[in-house]
Amino acid sequence: MSISRTLLRCLSVLLLLTCCHAWGQSTIVIKFSHVVANDTPKAKAALRFKALAEAATKGRVRVEVYPNSSLYKDKEELEALQLGAVQMLAPSLAKFAPLGIKEFEVFDVPYIFPDKATLYRVTQGPVGQNLLQKLETKGIVGLAFWDNGFKQMSSNKPIRVPSDMRGQKMRIQPSKVIDLQMRALGAVPMSLAFSEVFQALKTGLVDGTENPISNLYTQHMHEVQKYLTLTNHAYLGYAVIVNKKFWDDLPGDIRDELETAMKSATIYANTIAEQENEAALVAVRRSGKTLVVSLSAKDLLAWKAALLPVQKNMAGRISADLIARVNLEAALAEKNESAACCGAAIIAFFDR
Ligand code: LMR
Repeated sequence: MSISRTLLRCLSVLLLLTCCHAWGQSTIVIKFSHVVANDTPKAKAALRFKALAEAATKGRVRVEVYPNSSLYKDKEELEALQLGAVQMLAPSLAKFAPLGIKEFEVFDVPYIFPDKATLYRVTQGPVGQNLLQKLETKGIVGLAFWDNGFKQMSSNKPIRVPSDMRGQKMRIQPSKVIDLQMRALGAVPMSLAFSEVFQALKTGLVDGTENPISNLYTQHMHEVQKYLTLTNHAYLGYAVIVNKKFWDDLPGDIRDELETAMKSATIYANTIAEQENEAALVAVRRSGKTLVVSLSAKDLLAWKAALLPVQKNMAGRISADLIARVNLEAALAEKNESAACCGAAIIAFFDR
């Protein structure tokens, strides 16, 4: 072997050692930015991921969680992730279309998920995986879907039937589907960052908004909204995402540990979401500041009828196939439900 080849080989070994040494010695920092308060399902799950990830990697990874838009607001945080200024986010699914992936807006379609069973069939099955994969072309890896809940309408005017929404200025997330949903109700949508909503409600820039109750309560929106109507008209959940280059460059063993931590944090997130929203509803009622309006079956039908056209009108934008697939999952979930009911009835009959 010539001297120069030996030298080159030594140099590469040295380089490799230095590189491994760099990973080995320095702590890998994951900045995880989000926009909600610490006592929400998303924030709690982020903290659970931090605890699990740090314990599993024995301090080789440090997860810094920045809640409540303390680092970046909605739009900025996505830009920061793509630039590598933060490594992990969990934006609401309504915030992905501005990246160029309009299919994510399927989650915003009013009344497309009749229940959580359908939602989980979508997020935890091939439809969800397919959506996450679409993020890779944007330099992003999608790791998981985290639940929050169905959205409710709030305002300073009592809202019971769809026509009560006429002329109401409503804050929305940056989603064309939500924009059309508000217009279908005769309301005036205004897209604002989540961090600006409380102030916008307080100053009257907008009359109302829509959110799962956990978000409404933890941002104190109930203090500036006189009415909350339990419309359950559409869904709000999250995709947990990482910067692809950062993720791909991680040592394999670390990435494996982080994936395992993410799986556990996801189960946790999806377990607590419903109870957090129920607790928030109790707290809103107890505050005495907001009157909670429940809908009769007849009122609910009127909301569904008013919002059904949104699904048809948005099929071209989102993808008619995707909408059909979600509707199929809803039908399958219902079939499972009746099969389970039937099974339980048979067992009960023979147990008599
Ligand atoms: C909103 O902007 O209303 C939500 O996306 C906030 C969140 O992250 O839950």
